[in-house]
This record gives sequence, C-alpha cells and structure tokens, in this order.
Amino acid sequence: MVRHDHERFAELTFDDFRRMATDDSLSPYEKVGFPDEYRAGLEEVIFDDIVGKLALDGGSGRLVVDIGPGCSQLPRMLSGLCARLDHRLVLVDSEEMLSQLPDERHVTKLAGRYPDVPELFVGRRGAVDALLAYSVLHYVFAEGNVWRFLDRSLELLAPGGSMLLGDIPNVSKRRRFFASEAGIAHHQRFTGEDRPPAVEWGAPEPGKIDDAVILGLLARSRAAGFDAYVVTQPEELPMATRREDILIRRP
Ligand SMILES: C[S@@+](CC[C@H](N)C(=O)[O-])C[C@H]1O[C@@H](n2cnc3c(N)ncnc32)[C@H](O)[C@@H]1O
Repeated sequence: MVRHDHERFAELTFDDFRRMATDDSLSPYEKVGFPDEYRAGLEEVIFDDIVGKLALDGGSGRLVVDIGPGCSQLPRMLSGLCARLDHRLVLVDSEEMLSQLPDERHVTKLAGRYPDVPELFVGRRGAVDALLAYSVLHYVFAEGNVWRFLDRSLELLAPGGSMLLGDIPNVSKRRRFFASEAGIAHHQRFTGEDRPPAVEWGAPEPGKIDDAVILGLLARSRAAGFDAYVVTQPEELPMATRREDILIRRP
C-alpha cells in the first residue's frame, strides 16, 4: 500500500515532539510533525480559520490558552493577535517546544503534558475565554486519555467561552473520502497509478479516532452542559477531506 508522506509523521509521541523541537536539521513545520508541503503558505489560512471559529478578534482583554502550540508560525501569529488586542495567552507544551518560542510579556508558558499541568488550573477554572488545541487531540488519543483531556478542558471554559479541538484526523471520514470518486481520483493523482485506494470498512483501527470517538466527545460535552459541534475545515487545507474540527461553547 502506498504510504502518503504525512504518514511519516503519523505516530509521534509527546517525547518524540520534545526531541524534534530542538533538532535543527528539521524545518519549523517538520518540528511539529508536518512535511513542509502540508503547512508552508497555509498557516495564514489555518490561523484565519482559528480566529473565526474562536471569535478571537472580538473584544479585548480575553484569556486565551493554546494547548500544544508547537513552534511554527501559528503560535507566533496567535501571540501577535493577543498582543494587539490585549489578550493574555497561556501556552502549554513541552519545555523543549516552548523554548523555541519568544518570551513575551502577555504570554505565560507552562511546560508539561496537558492536562497534567496543575499550575494551569490554579485561578483559571471557569476563566478561559478561548481554548485551542490544534492538531493535538489524536496524539492524546493514542497515548493519553482523551476523555480526561476533554473533561479538564471543559472545566477551564468561562461562561460564553469557546474551545476548538482542531485538525482531528477521523479515520471514518478518511474511509468515506477514499471510497468516493473524488477520493479515488485524488489517490490516483497522488500515486500515479490506476488502482483505487484500499478501503477496509469495519476493520479495527487501534489508536485512531473514528466517528464513534468524535460523536462521543460531542455527546459528553453536551451532557456536561456545553454546546458542541463538528465543523469543517477550509477546503484549501490539504487534509480537509480527512480531518475535521470540534467546536465547543459554554452557554
Ligand atoms: C502536530 S503538533 C501541532 C502544533 C500546533 N498546534 C500546530 O498546529 O502547528 C502537536 C503539538 O502538541 C504537543 N503535545 C502533544 N501532546 C500534548 C499534551 N498532552 N500536552 C501539551 N502538548 C502536547 C506537541 O509537543 C506538539 O507541539
């Protein structure tokens, strides 16, 4: 079976990211697990999408938390917007990853593997206006506890606050895409071969997020008193056919 390039980075752990952060043979995109072609020139699109979904440019003086910011342009763009609007920004990632980002007055860096970052929860429960975890949840699903991640994140949201669990690869959506005409054509272009992609319905996918997990996260959030939605990505993002976002709002 043909291995798509991004799969080179598919099974990374928190500790892999720690090592990659300080490996200067890697580009900033590779340090956060993406081949350059999946991110170069596209982070502005991603950033605008995040700003819109989290309504980050409305108002000022907000408390914003980015879990797993990585070290490419995205957290720098976010920090710039927060500085302009007088938002405070808390970044939670490994020490190694955070060391790649500038120290700024409106930014608090908390090193650790979320949610095991006790300091974050001191004085911030029910106080966070916008919480972002972009392209992070699948790593937590594979090596941590996604339910604990969700529950602790819901605890942080202020009334009216929003959480974006962005860029979640969903293996069920991936199957639907590669079984479609558009998906078959995409695969044929990518491989240069006539053969359609192999799609195995009903096969176990250990460590991978599927519809059951996505819908479970929505149901659990709603049961806890939050509004929760699955939202699409901008079409120009290269994995929009296989990934989606979850947006959660505290009423
Ligand atoms: C694929 S990168 C995404 C980085 C950034 N959000 C972006 O989209 O460019 C995943 C990031 O999440 C971090 N990460 C993974 N698990 C984490 C956890 N449990 N707590 C905090 N950061 C985590 C990694 O260190 C890495 O920086």
